[in-house]
Amino acid sequence: MNTLSRSEAWQADRDHFVHPYTDFTTFHDTGSQVISHGDAMFVTDEQGQSYLDGIAGLWCVNLGHGRTEIAQAMADQAMRLGYYNTFGHSTNVPAANLARQLAERAPGGLNHVFFTTGGSTANDTAVRLAHFYFNRMGKPSKKKILSRNNGYHGSTYFASALTGIHGIHYGFDRISQDIVHHLSAANCYRRPDGMDEAQFCDFLIDEARHRIEQLGADNIAAFIAEPVMGAGGVLVAPAGYHRRMAEVCKDNDMLYIADEVVTGFGRLGHWFASENHFGHVPDILITAKGLSSGYCPIGAAIFSEKIYEGISKPQGPGGTLSHGFTYSGHPVACAAALKSIELYEAEDVFTNVRDTGPYMQDRLQGLLRHEVVGDVRGDHLMAGIELVADREAKRNFPPDLAAAEVVFRRAREHGVIVRPVGDTIILSPPLIISREQVDTLIDGLDQAIEDVSGQLLSRAGT
Ligand SMILES: Cc1ncc(COP(=O)(O)O)c(C=O)c1O
Repeated sequence: MNTLSRSEAWQADRDHFVHPYTDFTTFHDTGSQVISHGDAMFVTDEQGQSYLDGIAGLWCVNLGHGRTEIAQAMADQAMRLGYYNTFGHSTNVPAANLARQLAERAPGGLNHVFFTTGGSTANDTAVRLAHFYFNRMGKPSKKKILSRNNGYHGSTYFASALTGIHGIHYGFDRISQDIVHHLSAANCYRRPDGMDEAQFCDFLIDEARHRIEQLGADNIAAFIAEPVMGAGGVLVAPAGYHRRMAEVCKDNDMLYIADEVVTGFGRLGHWFASENHFGHVPDILITAKGLSSGYCPIGAAIFSEKIYEGISKPQGPGGTLSHGFTYSGHPVACAAALKSIELYEAEDVFTNVRDTGPYMQDRLQGLLRHEVVGDVRGDHLMAGIELVADREAKRNFPPDLAAAEVVFRRAREHGVIVRPVGDTIILSPPLIISREQVDTLIDGLDQAIEDVSGQLLSRAGT
C-alpha cells in the first residue's frame, strides 16, 4: 500500500521510523508532526494547518516548496535514464554538465568536482582525498585536521568527529581524537571580556598559529570551517578572520576546506560565500543542500587544480582513486541541481537575498526588546537568536527548560516554523521570501517570545 491515512502515518512513523536527532524522552508520547504539502514559502501538515517555513526544510529548500519545474526535470531524467553508475570511465549527461556548471561558478581555480550523496559524505570525501593528496606528494605525515568548537560538519563517523558541537557526542564514542583538533569558535557574543572584535580576531589567529606550532605543521593536512557557523548557533566570525586563516593555511602548507553546505547557493547572496563575501579562495569547497534546493540528495566536494594534479597522477598499473558512492553523480539528482541553477539565475534569486537578507537582520534587532533575548546575529538569510535567563551574565536557561523548544512550539501556534538548537532559535527561510513574509515570520516569532518569556524566567528563578 502506497498511501496511509493521517493516523496510520503517525502510527507507522512512531513504531518504525528512527529519526535523526530524536528526543526519546517525548517521542513515544508525541510522535511526529506529519508534513504533507509544500507550496512556495509554506508547508501544510496532515491536520490541514499551514505554516510559513522559516527554515527552508533544513536550510535547503532555497527555491521554495512545490516547484513543478524541478519535479518535471527529475521526472524527465528518470524516464530517460533513472540510474547508471559513474565509477571508472562511465558517466551520464547531467553529471558531466553539472560538474562543468559548478566549476564555472566555484571561486578561483576550483575546477574538479567529486559528487556525493550529501554534506557529510562530501566532508568525508574532502578529508580522505586530502590525506591521499599528501600521500601522493610524499608528505604522508600530514594527517591532522583543525576544526572548530561549535562547527557542524555532519553525521557520518568522520564528519561527526569533525563536528565541534560537543553536546551531540554525548553517549557516543569519539573516534579520530588523535587526528581532529578543535580550535575556539569564532563566537563574538561570548568572546573574552574586554576584547573588541578586532582583538578577538587576533586572539583566534594567534591561537591557530600556536596550535599548529604545538602539533607541527608537518603533521597537519587541513583546516575545515563553515564561512558562517550554522547548526552551532549561527556564529559570524570577526571581520578578516577567514582571509587570515587562509594565510595561516598557506604559511603552513595546509589545505583550507570551506564547508559551504549552508552558505552556498545564495544564502549569503552569492553562489558561494568564501570569495565573494569573505575574500579568500579555499582549496576544497563543500556544497550540498541548496545545490538541488533540497529536492534530491546530492553533495559535492570541489577541488583546486593543484589537488587534482596530485590525486590524478597515475599510480601505476591497477592503481585507482579508490573512493566513491553508488549514487555519485546520480542523474536524477544532477537534473534537480541543474534545474535549480537555472531557476536561481532566471528568477534573480540572489538579488532578492541581497534585499531581504539585510532587511531581515535589521528587523530581528527588534527582538532585543525581550529580556530573554541575549543576542541576535546572522548574515543575510541566516540568523540566530540566543535566549538567556540572565542577559547581564549571558547565562543560558537550564537545559531541562528547553527554552528554545518552548519558543519553537509557541511560534508554530502563530503559524511560523523556526528551529530550536540548544538555546538558539535559528532562521533560514527559502531565498524567495518577500519583505512582507519576513515581517510575518518575525512578528510570529516576536509574539511567541512575548507569550512564553515570563513563564521561562520564573521557571528559571530569574
Ligand atoms: C555546514 C554543514 N556541513 C555538513 C552538513 C551535513 O550535511 P548532510 O546532512 O547532508 O550530510 C550540514 C548539515 O546540516 C551542515 O550544516
